[in-house]
Amino acid sequence: MTTQKTTGIVVHPASTASDWWRSAVIYQVYPRSFADGNGDGMGDLQGIASKLPYLRDLGVDALWVSPFYPSPQADGGYDVADYRDIDPIFGTLADADILIGRAHELGLRVFVDLVPNHTSDEHPWFRRALASAPGSPERDWYIFRDVDPGSPEQRPNNWESDFGGPAWSKTPDGKQWYLHMFDTKQPDLNWENPAVREEFRGTLRFWLDRGVDGFRVDVAHALIKAPGLPDFAHSREELLAGEISTNECPYYDQDRLHEIVRDWRTVLDSYDGARAMVAEAWVQPYERLVKYVRPDEYHQAFNFEFLETPWDAKALRNGIVSSYRSNDSVGAPTTWVLSNHDVIRHATRLGLKESGADDSIWRTDNIDAEAGLRRARAATAMVLALPGSAYIYQGEELGLPEVLDLPASVRQDPTFHRTAGKRIGRDGCRVPIPWKKDAPAYGFNTTGESWLPQPEIFGELAADQQHGDPDSTLEMYRRLLKTRRERGLGNGELTLRDLGENVIAFDVANSQNVTTVIANLGQEPVELPQDATVIASSVPGVTSQLPTDATVWLARN
Ligand code: GLC
Repeated sequence: MTTQKTTGIVVHPASTASDWWRSAVIYQVYPRSFADGNGDGMGDLQGIASKLPYLRDLGVDALWVSPFYPSPQADGGYDVADYRDIDPIFGTLADADILIGRAHELGLRVFVDLVPNHTSDEHPWFRRALASAPGSPERDWYIFRDVDPGSPEQRPNNWESDFGGPAWSKTPDGKQWYLHMFDTKQPDLNWENPAVREEFRGTLRFWLDRGVDGFRVDVAHALIKAPGLPDFAHSREELLAGEISTNECPYYDQDRLHEIVRDWRTVLDSYDGARAMVAEAWVQPYERLVKYVRPDEYHQAFNFEFLETPWDAKALRNGIVSSYRSNDSVGAPTTWVLSNHDVIRHATRLGLKESGADDSIWRTDNIDAEAGLRRARAATAMVLALPGSAYIYQGEELGLPEVLDLPASVRQDPTFHRTAGKRIGRDGCRVPIPWKKDAPAYGFNTTGESWLPQPEIFGELAADQQHGDPDSTLEMYRRLLKTRRERGLGNGELTLRDLGENVIAFDVANSQNVTTVIANLGQEPVELPQDATVIASSVPGVTSQLPTDATVWLARN
């Protein structure tokens, strides 16, 4: 099988726009677990600042820092008690200024996380609401409904919290219900209230004025609820399985939320034209998702549908085509993301022998770790060659697996607790990063404290063990990112080639060069074209053949 035999189908034209975010590689830092400067076992801003040279050398363009705001940490900081300050466990506003300034000096841009759907129940706005009477303007900042004295246990509707259990809890006096699509400690804001909108405009400006380059927007699909808060007529399972369109759900993807996005966009555009927002919108199908990235809305949205696609060449190829078709229809860049702080790390996910449902990963006999890492490397090598913007989650460049054996006593994710352990939760992808094999807490700090225990395997996967080893996952990421930058792969014309049903093959062409990328998901090796030179690969030693579960980048001679 050679590439000469194939016909190509152009699925994506090169973009004429050159905005930095269209082709950026953005590295997600989860502050609790990245690097701990003060040794208390929880990562912090000084820790992040100390690792900026590492990120520059890795070859990314920007970092997105998950929430660092004052928070009771009921949901890892996604329960914000003050949008315009830093939690003392992470540092101070002065530390944030230093972090942003140093990142910029190194040529790295910075996104912060905006959490607009809900606050912490310890936010002064919610406290003020509870201290005021039902029906008062203060209560109107959140979504309250009266308890029916005739049937006091009857909730206002059948909505379920994303973390399990009902989405309504009673106020301490038992007279009203309040809505929380996540934990009881995360009351949903009322985005119908103009005062809420005004506050968030101010918060955007607060961070833009401090120099941030943009925002990752949390739960961007839930801000507006259907009028009258009707029951959800389908099940959560149908929703998650993609059997219904998200806007059929009365608390997701409601058309009116777009007016809020357009409003924010005018705030960002009033700066220097280089600030950007990315939507965390779990929305399907793509026709719904692209509404979020119309020219006057978000700059980009995470491509979760692709993240959730199984390791199957046909499904992934279709995912690539639909991603480009839909994003191109509105002129937005496609994004590529394989891991984040909410999903099973892809080195483990791609090694699951069964479905990957939350309960099946409890069983370690259900995972082929070697195949998982091999496929993870192949998947990464594939997406980093695809035009558009790409996201990397801290530790994936070390090939870290999901940590599955955390004891219940250390688990912090409210999902685990709200479902009595039925859903394992997300702590396993949040274990502190190993930097050095022979150091306390594997170099996460100097004291050996760690808010989640690190497994022994983190020793051999530590960054210092991989540094300089050409076959390591870390060096593979460095090589891919360097080559991506040199060859301008973030923007180019993408042509799909047909090398057989179990192979994903494409060319990325720009004015400088043509790069051919081949990912072999089949059992048989694939012969490589002779008129091309291997410039990067996900496994060592690729010359004339590409083995199974591997990706290669070729320069056309
Ligand atoms: C987003 C975050 C997740 C958080 C949830 C509630 O999905 O990524 O970590 O738990 O929102 O804020």
